[in-house]
Amino acid sequence: DNIHYFPMLNSTMDKARELARADASHMSAVVAEVQQSGRGRLNRKWVSQEGGLWFSMILRPLLPPPLAWQVNFAASVAMSITLKKIFDLDVRVKWPNDILYQERKLAGLLSEMETEGDMISFVIIGIGLNVNNSPSKAEPNAISIMDILGKPVHRRNLLSDFLDQFEATVDEHVKKQKHSSDSASFTPSIITQWKEMTGTIGKKVRIETYDDFFEGVAVDVDDTGALLIEKDDGTICKVIYGDCFHQG
Ligand code: BTN
Repeated sequence: DNIHYFPMLNSTMDKARELARADASHMSAVVAEVQQSGRGRLNRKWVSQEGGLWFSMILRPLLPPPLAWQVNFAASVAMSITLKKIFDLDVRVKWPNDILYQERKLAGLLSEMETEGDMISFVIIGIGLNVNNSPSKAEPNAISIMDILGKPVHRRNLLSDFLDQFEATVDEHVKKQKHSSDSASFTPSIITQWKEMTGTIGKKVRIETYDDFFEGVAVDVDDTGALLIEKDDGTICKVIYGDCFHQG
């Protein structure tokens, strides 16, 4: 495995980008014990204290740019499978890419990419997984593996099991779909598998974007990864960006 450990970083996203620009290989990972300016989706701060698993993975182009988003779904699917396998945790994925345990946030996922012309140079996927930390003090809706199991667990094994699972998931679903992008009725199989693990579809949700919010029922995720919401008046709204809150 190609795992780079640091006691402290501003963000593993930045260090991974720096290493990727300096030719770090596909599937390298950067881990920090503590992040001083960890970041989340939508410009939020990600509190990253000791005990969590804060890491970013470098992915070399696997797919043409229009299909690269599929690796995000592969990462949350692979993390859910890993948590089920090792700890028998019954987790659910929440659109777009959180991992929840009993509606509380166990992990969040962030992806960034760098392009050159119309080619992707690399994708960085960052995962923040609450493991042996106690996130609920700062964030009542968050939970850690230690909170659930009542004891700390070994993070290094967890990370290497996840990386193996992630490679297997990418191999299974993503690489082989290189040539299927032009078929209109084609649903990537990673989306099919993601949907089997989600708690979002069927739920009443509240959607928040930068300048708008609305409620409705999440009815599906389409073949581009967008969330489809049915509003009270029966219209369907397609959400490609923003936050989704489960309403019960
Ligand atoms: C979210 O839920 O908003 C995504 C959170 C992603 C946090 C991880 S921790 C490792 C990596 N480095 C960061 O600065 N952020 C991601």
